[in-house]
Amino acid sequence: MKIIKANNYNDLSRKAANILSAQVILKPRSVLGLATGSSPLGTYKQLISWYDKDDIDFSEVTTVNLDEYVGLSSNNPQSYRYFMNTNFFDHINIDKIKTHLPNGIVKDTEKECERYNNLLHEVGGIDIQLLGLGLNGHIGFNEPGSEFEKLTHVVKLKEATVSANKRFFEKGEDVPKFAISMGIKSIMQAKHILLIVNGEEKYEILKQCLFGPVTPHVPGSILQLHSNLTVIYSCNKEL
Ligand code: GLP
Repeated sequence: MKIIKANNYNDLSRKAANILSAQVILKPRSVLGLATGSSPLGTYKQLISWYDKDDIDFSEVTTVNLDEYVGLSSNNPQSYRYFMNTNFFDHINIDKIKTHLPNGIVKDTEKECERYNNLLHEVGGIDIQLLGLGLNGHIGFNEPGSEFEKLTHVVKLKEATVSANKRFFEKGEDVPKFAISMGIKSIMQAKHILLIVNGEEKYEILKQCLFGPVTPHVPGSILQLHSNLTVIYSCNKEL
């Protein structure tokens, strides 16, 4: 495990973008596992600015995202597809056909999970998975109590997560209660995991993830067992 302390959010974002950028330069056909939430926004901004300067080329890259809300279509501004398009994909030379997220508006969500698992296999696995950390230790939408053995599956969101995500919605009751998420097993199969964690409020949970017991009660604790984990964090205290 490599742990890197960043000076601030901007520094964290540049460091994470540097690692993703190196991945794409070394392997133009990389499969990038991407994440939503506020943590990766600065990383995407930095990558866009390097793309604008011709420093990085995404034309051969494939992306797979961690998760999507059930019931939100791609043109709903709160959907993760919309988030990815507007915050990243629309601004770089990626072929949208090669950008993948679970589809949240299918009739048969179980079948959609199976499709997504097959897709992860077909693209040849994830070269690097960017991950944020939920306040309760969730990764993707794998909530406390999630089985470590799960591949992509339907998740019932915990009240804490629904309420943390209210800030993105106009009305609290609009926050979806279900999501489709890559499971912990899918995440752990990535060749490299890049965890980015920003802010004082995540300090305790990050400490538990990295140094506490490995337990489904703290989903991010499984990351200790990954052979190629890089953690970049920004907060006032040292880990
Ligand atoms: C959501 C996402 C996670 C993300 C988490 C933390 O629940 N499904 O992938 O890591 O929020 O978000 P933030 O980065 O905004 O703190």
